[in-house]
Amino acid sequence: MDTSFGYFDDAAREYVITRPDTPWPWINYLGTEDFFSLISNTAGGYCFCRDAKFRRILRYRYNGVPMDAGGRYYYIKDGDTVWNPGWKPCKTPLDRYECRHGMGYSRFIGEKDGLQAELTCWVPLGHRCEVHRLRLTNTGTARKSFQLYSFVEWCLWNASTDMENFQRNLSTGEVEVEGRVLYHKTEYRERRDHYAFFGVNRPFDGFDTDRETFLGMYNGFEAPQQVLSGTSGNSVAHGWSPVASHRFDMALEPGQRDELLFVLGYVENPEDEKFTEQQVINKRRALEMMEAFSTPAQAEASLAALRAFWDGLLSRFTVASAVPELDRTVNIWNQYQCMITFFFSRSASYFESGIGRGMGFRDSNQDLTGIVHMIPERARQRIIDIASTQFPDGGCYHQYQPLSKRGNNDIGGGFNDDPLWLIFGTVAYIKETGDFGILQEPVPFDNQPGTEVSLLEHLKISFSHVTDNLGPHGLPLIGRADWNDCLNLNCFSDNPDESFQTTENQSEGSQAESLMIAGLFVAEGKDFAELLERIGDSDAAGVKQAVAAMEAAVKKDGWDGEWFLRAYDFYGRKIGSDECAEGKVFIESQGWCTMARIGAEEGLCDKALDSAVKYLECDYGMVLNNPAYTAYIKDYGEISTYPEGYKENAGIFCHNNPWVIIGEAMAGRADAAWRHYCKITPAFCQDQRLRKVEPYVFCQMVAGKDAARPGEGKNSWLTGTAAWTWKAVSEFLLGVKPQYDGLLIDPCLPLPYGTYRVHRRFRDAEYDLNIHYTGRRGGCFLPYEAGSHTVDIEL
Ligand code: GLC
Ligand code: GLC
Repeated sequence: MDTSFGYFDDAAREYVITRPDTPWPWINYLGTEDFFSLISNTAGGYCFCRDAKFRRILRYRYNGVPMDAGGRYYYIKDGDTVWNPGWKPCKTPLDRYECRHGMGYSRFIGEKDGLQAELTCWVPLGHRCEVHRLRLTNTGTARKSFQLYSFVEWCLWNASTDMENFQRNLSTGEVEVEGRVLYHKTEYRERRDHYAFFGVNRPFDGFDTDRETFLGMYNGFEAPQQVLSGTSGNSVAHGWSPVASHRFDMALEPGQRDELLFVLGYVENPEDEKFTEQQVINKRRALEMMEAFSTPAQAEASLAALRAFWDGLLSRFTVASAVPELDRTVNIWNQYQCMITFFFSRSASYFESGIGRGMGFRDSNQDLTGIVHMIPERARQRIIDIASTQFPDGGCYHQYQPLSKRGNNDIGGGFNDDPLWLIFGTVAYIKETGDFGILQEPVPFDNQPGTEVSLLEHLKISFSHVTDNLGPHGLPLIGRADWNDCLNLNCFSDNPDESFQTTENQSEGSQAESLMIAGLFVAEGKDFAELLERIGDSDAAGVKQAVAAMEAAVKKDGWDGEWFLRAYDFYGRKIGSDECAEGKVFIESQGWCTMARIGAEEGLCDKALDSAVKYLECDYGMVLNNPAYTAYIKDYGEISTYPEGYKENAGIFCHNNPWVIIGEAMAGRADAAWRHYCKITPAFCQDQRLRKVEPYVFCQMVAGKDAARPGEGKNSWLTGTAAWTWKAVSEFLLGVKPQYDGLLIDPCLPLPYGTYRVHRRFRDAEYDLNIHYTGRRGGCFLPYEAGSHTVDIEL
């Protein structure tokens, strides 16, 4: 295992970064409810409340050079030396640096010339704020006098206009300074009911709220003129760029430690409580928050509560096996990442700007399968929220806005796989919880009051949206695209100024059909039929018929001889066929059709899996398609815009690798399933510099075998890979599958790893499973019964 930049501390559930100049900012997320932060290993990043675009609290510099400039910066001026506990922005070499990213908190330790600073940042449960606990210790032998500065830069709320509308923005900024708190109240005078603040639990010796006064017109964050001169401007911002900085003149005896608590918070006030006097903000809620974090004991208790929160979530599924990489992935990082992707969908990361995308219809349905065992109530709410954006014909908006929960067409619509994911998410929810009642919940269309029908009706129209939109081979029409957003078969764009996602679709007369949707339909249709039978719904028979017809259509016109075709294009020509010069084999249809077990008896699944290995597998996982497209193909759209080996054009799009892992496991091919799993799982990563992004989370894409630098990761954190790998490892490799009436234990692992223990909380039961897998297929069913059960299972 490569530890050039850091290592796992499993007992603490932390990743420990040992040098600050990681190949890319390695970030963590803070927050569990509606106040969230992104925080890098040098304390960079930003926070927001509820919506990364409309309620942005700290400014982030898009395309900044170097990147990741701005964050929670503490400056220590010790004589002529100025340094930061997280190394940036001054980058003064430290005697010691360490960053520990933990569950919902990050800790930085910086030490310089006998002074140690330990900065812990977290978002406490039940509050809309970040708390920063800064401990300063004199580790030397002489008394130390120094100055400490805090610093954050405010965003003018709308993260998008914040970086565009300067003719307005540079005149709107407003702040207040009172007591120990610096308030940011831009636009509070008009329609906003919210303000932000940055306060501290002791009096300060100086402050600044105007960026130019603090930094100086020609200085960057690395050389603030006030810090360099040991002063504060006591500036009150009027327009330009409001910031918040406190100054403290401090002294510590040898061995002495001091601790400060900073609160970076967000407050909403009801309309009639906004002001205490003309244009003076009502500070009551901010002061209450300050009060809640005014003593070390309160801070410690808050951290302990946060730890207990994560202990609670992560204790619901644990494994003890012979493979430490597997254990730390399953017990810690994969589940943590599932929670983060559930919170954020694809909105805010160091690759997703927080101003581009909201909550995806298909993405959020998939994400909830990674968290339903931890927070079933929130999964339930998410299903209702998503379904509420559906149209009466079963079609969907591709995304909805987290603040309003309204669907929109900003990143396109008419993706014909979208509706089926609602069945996928709901089935996963009911199998985990046994809550069939959700099916009777009234759910509107397009959020229009008065249009409510039961969730079950939504599932039925999701299903029939596919059967209502079949193409010439009886296969599903693809619409704008299927899961692969970039396979745009009805788009024909020759205008570089339009997006493939939103440009007019020419679906009239289209013969473009998707084998990925066909596989998804068969797999989910089988689940849906089972669900309908369970509740005695007579539509079950029709669903089964439609599924059987689709299976027949796939076998007849979706099989290429050695693998499943990918699609038919607008004109009815094959995509993903041996007949094609490029893009002969695609992963999505191999994954979905083998998960659906289409043609398994005739040996199609084994052949398709063999082909995936032969054409798609490389050292770092399986590429999406092979050979890569080497030129733009107008008939195919965005997929062919990417250089070979990246993203949807033959990148290792990790999200779809678990589909093949599951397909392999269902076929009983343990060695291949395990090998594919290890290749994409970061805990097994052998080269941190090559991988570049965080070694503790999955990324959306790793450059494929045709790329310039195969193995280089991108788009870390917010990816369906988290939920899908979770499903693959928990249900198919370790083999603990929730069913309507209990757990089916049906592992598929290489025999040397076949002996392990799983602790699984399932509804009101706790199962301690001692599993000894000897290669027997078929599994062992444990009926659900409340209480604690210890079970020895030999298979
Ligand atoms: C991105 C999108 C997801 C899509 C995938 C493949 O990850 O978030 O919805 O399925 O790309 O294009
Ligand atoms: C681009 C990306 C794809 C993503 C889509 C979202 O097409 O390649 O991964 O899902 O944008 O709109």
